Amino acid sequence: MTRFAKFSAAALGITLLAGTAFADGHVNAAVKARQSQMTLYAFNIGQLGAMAKGAVDYDADKASAAAANLAALTALDQSALWPQGSDSDSFMDSNAKPEMWQNFPDVMTKGKALADAAMVMQTAAGGGLDSLRGAIGPLGGACSACHKAYRVPQN
Ligand code: HEC
Repeated sequence: MTRFAKFSAAALGITLLAGTAFADGHVNAAVKARQSQMTLYAFNIGQLGAMAKGAVDYDADKASAAAANLAALTALDQSALWPQGSDSDSFMDSNAKPEMWQNFPDVMTKGKALADAAMVMQTAAGGGLDSLRGAIGPLGGACSACHKAYRVPQN
């Protein structure tokens, strides 16, 4: 009986370890994927922002391409990118606050606000510098509204 109990505990230990390793790998992949999506957001809005500021010359084709990329990125299904246990308290490499998982309807609203702003930018970007400038504020605002609420503040 004692031997059996020991054996079972050992077997259970192995199962739990394997489960944890799988869960960590799964969480790690999801966190990396969503951070990569964010990096693509930043790259594309960066191009638009540089034109808006006058740091680089306005180019209607490049602006339209960056805006189309952003709109396409916001249309991706992100449901698998935010698994339970991938918040900043549970997973070291994440900067997503645990509050995200308690306020999912609001997160969706903020995601939708970004998608809407990206669509407005997609229409505006090719229409001249003033048109681009008119759309950049709300677009950047949609990024920071979500970051303020749900991203661990960055230095
Ligand atoms: C619905 C909420 C939400 C919106 C909208 C949003 N972000 Fe994020 N962003 C986050 C969260 C949460 C994180 C932290 C993710 C993590 O580390 O797990 C993040 C992280 C990032 C990062 C860091 C990525 C990394 O490598 O760690 C960048 C850059 C970024 N966002 C840029 C943007 C830009 C640019 C926009 C707008 C075009 C945007 N985000 C819109 C929630 C959002």
